[in-house]
Amino acid sequence: MRHLMSPLDFSVKELEKLLKLANDIEKNPEKYAHACEGKKLATCFYEPSTRTRLSFEAAMLNLGGKVLGFSDAASSSASKGESVSDTIRVISCYADICAMRHPKEGAPLVASQKSRIPVINAGDGGHQHPTQTLTDLLTIYSLKGRLDHLTIGLCGDLKFGRTVHSLIHALIRYPGIRFVLISPEELRIPSNLHDEVLVRNNIPFKEMVKLEDALPELDILYMTRVQRERFFNEEDYIRMKDFYILNKEKMELAPKDMLVLHPLPRVNEISVEVDDDPRAIYFKQAQYGVYVRMALILTLLEVEV
Ligand code: CP
Repeated sequence: MRHLMSPLDFSVKELEKLLKLANDIEKNPEKYAHACEGKKLATCFYEPSTRTRLSFEAAMLNLGGKVLGFSDAASSSASKGESVSDTIRVISCYADICAMRHPKEGAPLVASQKSRIPVINAGDGGHQHPTQTLTDLLTIYSLKGRLDHLTIGLCGDLKFGRTVHSLIHALIRYPGIRFVLISPEELRIPSNLHDEVLVRNNIPFKEMVKLEDALPELDILYMTRVQRERFFNEEDYIRMKDFYILNKEKMELAPKDMLVLHPLPRVNEISVEVDDDPRAIYFKQAQYGVYVRMALILTLLEVEV
């Protein structure tokens, strides 16, 4: 039995297979419409979500399966003090696979150690968000045709942004990847990611503060939200929240074929006027999230179509 805790749980070869399966699902959805009949997905979300939870549920429904779960810790027995280990033992009696989001880093991993069904980390604190990474990889792979030889700008909250952390881990395995890390000084990537992942693996990268200076050299711009829920004080959040705003004027500095991704939700960091630019693909990215989660459910449940 396999779980998904980190994007590195799949080898590059396995990842390629998964992305190809997701592409086939996009082209031939009817072929997969009954693949998970009789199977159930539990979504255990201890932290708010729109895309991840609903795209997991849409994915299982598209595969002919059923869904159950909770979307708020307060409506589960966590509010009475139940541990994730006990919860997953019980969920294992009700469902065939579980997607879990938790504000505590490592909680889905703890659950997976007691589980009798595959557990998918649907985001754990500021740590990792592997299915967002699968979504991001599928988006880049489908629209750029490759995952190698790309200059990727990561912009915004690089300190707390778990989507950024997972994406860096996943992309360094491909040749010719360069990162431009665009953030205020206070929101730079954590030192372990800087030293033990980028420096140790000789990955070319530079750190910048001004988005305008980075734009001309990017193949991909990955914007992120400054996350209010991860700040310890409101004052710091207010000072940082509008540090970056991508608008039409700034988009003029970017290459004609640069793609703008964002895991969403967006607050102010991308002006709505950018939405009509063909390079703005963040809503299409959310659609890719369904295909890749369908491919993931099939893979972890070992369903062959
Ligand atoms: N991208 C993402 O994780 O969105 P949600 O928080 O809405 O699930």
